[in-house]
Amino acid sequence: MSLLLSLIIPTYNESENISPLIIQLTSLLDRTLEQKYEIIIVDDDSPDLTWKIAQDLSDQYPQLKVIRRQGEKGLSTAVMKGWEKAQGEILGVIDADLQHPPESLLQLWSEIEKGADLAVASRHVEGGGVSDWSLLRRFLSRGAQTLGLIILPGVIGRVSDPMSGFFLVRRRCLANSTLNPLGYKILIEVLAKGKIGWISEVGYVFQERQEGQSKVTKQQYIDYIRHLVRLRLSLWRFERFIRFGVVGLSGVFVDMAFLYLLSDSSTLGLPLTRSKIIAAELAIINNFLWNDSWTFRDIAQTQPGKRRKIKRFIKFNLICLAGLILNVLFLNIFYNIFDLNRYVANLGAIAIVTIWNYWLNLKLSWRSTDLDSESRK
Ligand code: GDD
Ligand code: MN
Repeated sequence: MSLLLSLIIPTYNESENISPLIIQLTSLLDRTLEQKYEIIIVDDDSPDLTWKIAQDLSDQYPQLKVIRRQGEKGLSTAVMKGWEKAQGEILGVIDADLQHPPESLLQLWSEIEKGADLAVASRHVEGGGVSDWSLLRRFLSRGAQTLGLIILPGVIGRVSDPMSGFFLVRRRCLANSTLNPLGYKILIEVLAKGKIGWISEVGYVFQERQEGQSKVTKQQYIDYIRHLVRLRLSLWRFERFIRFGVVGLSGVFVDMAFLYLLSDSSTLGLPLTRSKIIAAELAIINNFLWNDSWTFRDIAQTQPGKRRKIKRFIKFNLICLAGLILNVLFLNIFYNIFDLNRYVANLGAIAIVTIWNYWLNLKLSWRSTDLDSESRK
């Protein structure tokens, strides 16, 4: 019998909470999904023997499976482990401490049934909220979200509660993605790496914990920032930036070669500025051709035809010309104001303009139109 839902519960020292939670969840899901679901508890060898209690419970509840990890620790990697073992079409996660109300699961499920790829339980939509949180905790939670919006706007901005640890997602949306979460925030990894189109949000009130302790420490906040930066770099597809840099270098070579062929007294000996403009333009053409056929090949292929290629070239040319002006501007600022050596100043200017050129060309010249590519960064 194929399973519809695999619900993962990461646990660490939840001995008081695990039985009431399983009783509530199984009675809810038996009514909605009959036997077409599984609950997988992933316990990191809790000293309070949560795994033992869970194993005993699994004798009573056939849908319940228990994974006891030894020597491994961490909420999101525990969920990853559960998803690896899961059989269901829909993958879900819920905390074990009843701060995520089990009954909200049915609302999430009905959003999935309507066709959503991802259904998120949110504290920040209608019907959502937190119980009596201190001002500091509210500030930290919102502060973390704002930081995420600055570093990863296209990912964090897709939902109202990106920190939520309570959601359901279609397995096929994660099929070709390598999820590699860090710390607590697995939803961010799913949003960044998954092929997620339709997202639904359901409001819920985050309850106060009745039993046991929260495991959140300063480390989770550090992990969160590391996770954001890691995603930022991986999504930025560094290898594309490297290619852009290599092409840029070839452009410097073309620029220098033509500056010599045109302006040197031993060659044509043309005036310097005119030679520089011709050399710079030939370098821009060189860079465009290589970038279109190598750096941004995957995107250029989605925009076939001569007319669109010329359009990309014009945009590229304008951005690079603006870059040239910026280059001269920064060269003069570093040389005249910061008193830097002219070659160090020039290198600094080239570095800034390379990032400028890369970012603007990615956003404008090779702007990809379809949802699941880089435009959501
Ligand atoms: N296996 C495993 N390993 N489970 C863990 C670990 C771990 O290292 N650390 C925590 N857990 C389990 C807990 O036992 C609990 O079931 C769940 O993960 C959440 O841990 P809490 O410590 O209760 O987190 P919280 O309540 O402060 O924050 C939760 O809610 C927030 C709001 O939705 C988490 O889900 C956060 O990710 C979420 O932002
Ligand atoms: Mn909790």
